[in-house]
Amino acid sequence: MILRTTIDRVFETARVEEVIGEFVSLKKAGSNFKGLSPFTDEKSPSFMVSPVKQIWKDFSTGKGGNCVTFLMEHEHFSYPEAIRYLAKKYNIEVEEQAQSNAQKEAADERESMYLVSNFAKDYYHDVLLNHPKGKAVGFSYFKERGFTDATIAKFELGYNLDEWSAFTDTAIRKGYDLEYMAKTGLTIVKDNNKQFDRFKGRVLFPIHSMSGRVLGFGGRILKADKRAAKYLNSPESDIYHKSKVLYGIYQAKKTIAKEDRCFLVEGYTDVISMHQAGVENVVASSGTALTPDQIRLIRRLTPNITVLFDGDAAGIRASIRGIDLILEQGMNVKVLTFPEGEDPDSFAKSVGTEELKSYLDQNAKDFINFKVSLLMEEAQNDPVKKAGLIRDIVTSISKIPDNIQREVYVQECSRILEISEAVLFNELAQISKRAQREATQKVLQQQRQQSRQTQIPSSSSSSSSSNSDEEAYFQWKVAQEQGSQSDAKPQDSASFESPLELFEREIIKILLLYGNKQVSFVDWMEEVNEQGLVKMVKEEYTSFVSQEIYVQLQMDEVEFSHPVFQNIYSEIILKMNQEATVSIEELTSHSDVEISNIVTDILMDDEKHLLSNWEAQEIYVTAKDEVLPKLVRDAILNLRRVMIERKIEDLIQEVADDKNREATLEMVVNYTDLRKKMFEKLHRIV
Ligand code: CTP
Ligand code: MN
Repeated sequence: MILRTTIDRVFETARVEEVIGEFVSLKKAGSNFKGLSPFTDEKSPSFMVSPVKQIWKDFSTGKGGNCVTFLMEHEHFSYPEAIRYLAKKYNIEVEEQAQSNAQKEAADERESMYLVSNFAKDYYHDVLLNHPKGKAVGFSYFKERGFTDATIAKFELGYNLDEWSAFTDTAIRKGYDLEYMAKTGLTIVKDNNKQFDRFKGRVLFPIHSMSGRVLGFGGRILKADKRAAKYLNSPESDIYHKSKVLYGIYQAKKTIAKEDRCFLVEGYTDVISMHQAGVENVVASSGTALTPDQIRLIRRLTPNITVLFDGDAAGIRASIRGIDLILEQGMNVKVLTFPEGEDPDSFAKSVGTEELKSYLDQNAKDFINFKVSLLMEEAQNDPVKKAGLIRDIVTSISKIPDNIQREVYVQECSRILEISEAVLFNELAQISKRAQREATQKVLQQQRQQSRQTQIPSSSSSSSSSNSDEEAYFQWKVAQEQGSQSDAKPQDSASFESPLELFEREIIKILLLYGNKQVSFVDWMEEVNEQGLVKMVKEEYTSFVSQEIYVQLQMDEVEFSHPVFQNIYSEIILKMNQEATVSIEELTSHSDVEISNIVTDILMDDEKHLLSNWEAQEIYVTAKDEVLPKLVRDAILNLRRVMIERKIEDLIQEVADDKNREATLEMVVNYTDLRKKMFEKLHRIV
């Protein structure tokens, strides 16, 4: 039996559009995705996926449900099979056990904690609206801050009386168990069995989960008091994990998906004032840097995030560090500052809805550009600082998972910083290499640790034969884990055996995405003049990307090592030769499931970025064309380079085996020379 906590985690993490996207090619349609029904042979799409509701609906057959029911319908999985499939996909550990009484109790316990939190929310809200002191103190405070009745109702704001145990007494009278009031932190129980309310004489902001359950509270003090914290928050508990919630996500989720953008602010009041001013796609991190879990929460709704900063410069400098984390998650990040002394709350109040919206529209800056300009101001005329700055910026760029986007940023920075692209690319390569090395080391270390841990229980009393059985089992298990680890990489669901396959996939990806694009390539040709001297001549020509790749690979008679990649490549080239076009649709609906799977997979890699905002921000559209030739060139050169390396390895093996020693050695020298040329070409920035 799979534990409820695992199932919960699966549902929390799995995204219906990602799950279905592996089986159905989906296109964005408003806040939804649509696609062709996977259950019928239709020509126009009637299959809808809602990322907000996390459900799907097939209008042609009437089927529908969540990501698990989709797998049960489409893959004919049983319920546990579907859960296990998703757990593997999202790298979630499946905990299973016959459920003990203790475990049942824990689940019931959380349920009780939710219940009492919900009661507290209703109670505080009622006191705010109906109790004479609540009205006089709490309600008038919110009114003073300009919150309307509708806003107070929407965010279910509340107040608790300035007494020792007004809430606790009422809750107990209503039959709630003190144990859960203590576990949620609503009530503080002292050793001497005295109990009192955590929140006293404070206005209260209930904190909701994405699905609207009350998890905890933020309580604001009313009078300025140097000795007491302005905000008192619920403590961490089994239902409230600060790092996993965002204030306002429940009220904002619909608009975030619809607008395809999320604004991030610092505080409760920023969220509320912006809502009231008509900007509803806003959430708060509650005064700290975003955590990966919080970013994933947003990413379920949109890949586009705009971070709003208060007007103070020191704060901005401190906060921009955290933004690399958002980039790492593949989000498109913009930043926005307010005039000196203003925060989103005060600004939203001081201007009208239209003015606020246009301010947000016009002042959002691309994060990398923003960071460059900000740091440039500091580093002016200080070469040492400037060097550090470059490293800093390039580190940010290296976090972006998308190749093309990264290259566009390098070009931009080169322009702003007045530094050659070559230098920046070089720095980028070094940082990436270092990061990769560290990541590899980490994985290796984990694996070593895992295998060590799994081996500890093999007791000394077991016989030698059973020992080796066990060893074989451990090896199998470690291999399995390695497999599942590479499977779970967010970007590539196919696992690769070799760098060769990685570059082969890159070529297929370029063909699929840009095969039909016409771009201008530059080549350097050797030309011999009358004096017999060789000189390099630049030659420029225009070609379809697909043709360029075909011609280049043809020259080397390249065959893909991965059989499915080879099939896809052949299909693409056939179609290109017949109809001068690359057809993605035919490949995603290909009768060979391996082909359609891999193609959909490759396309889904980039769906996010294609859908998000390349087209909206013209900068990418033009810049994409500029970097495309280089991207194509590098992909081909990389593929050839790896092939040559393989060849050299094979030859060296032959030498070692003492076959045809002389001739083989000569070939090694030739190939090594070729490899050197290839490296030079790769590092020459056109
Ligand atoms: N915060 C907190 N504890 C504090 C101070 C701040 O948890 N002692 C968190 C709260 O979530 C708060 C956010 O950090 O909303 C931002 O802090 P601040 O800007 O000081 O609060 P505001 O929400 O702007 O509150 P107000 O406008 O009422 O001063
Ligand atoms: Mn404020």
